[in-house]
Amino acid sequence: MKPVFILNGPNLNLIGQREPEIYGRQTLADIEQGLRQQALAAGLEIDFRQTNHEGELTGWIQEARDAACALILNAAAYTHTSIAILDALRALSLPVVEVHLSNIFKREEFRHRSFVSPAATGLICGFGPQSYQLALAAIIAMVQSSDSSNRGIHG
Ligand code: DQA
Repeated sequence: MKPVFILNGPNLNLIGQREPEIYGRQTLADIEQGLRQQALAAGLEIDFRQTNHEGELTGWIQEARDAACALILNAAAYTHTSIAILDALRALSLPVVEVHLSNIFKREEFRHRSFVSPAATGLICGFGPQSYQLALAAIIAMVQSSDSSNRGIHG
């Protein structure tokens, strides 16, 4: 089985230190460790990465076309700005779960628009690090499901 790609965008390398009242005290390495264990228990592998560069993130999404069984994406600020990421996601035919630590709809207006959502199977936000765990649980259920063409309720 190919790994689940878990891709993280700009400034997520700073969580744990950055605005802890919004993003909590766990580091990205803490989150990665928990997800690795969760995946292992389900017989899956993860490929967990972070970048501050839009082009690199776009390239990794393209790489997922052949190298991943599913994608969990926290595009961070690029969520709200990047048509390049939307286009790369549209070229995928994998389950894609958009995640955010914070509830982007409770925050500033400019965070309410997502260029990831139109190309995602589903969206989980607002649960802190648990957003990632819930996303991985959804992916595990999908890839283990006998219906491998499961792309979410609305296609
Ligand atoms: C974020 C929300 C984004 O609006 C913000 O730019 C981030 C993190 C989140 O995980 O809550 O950097 O994606």
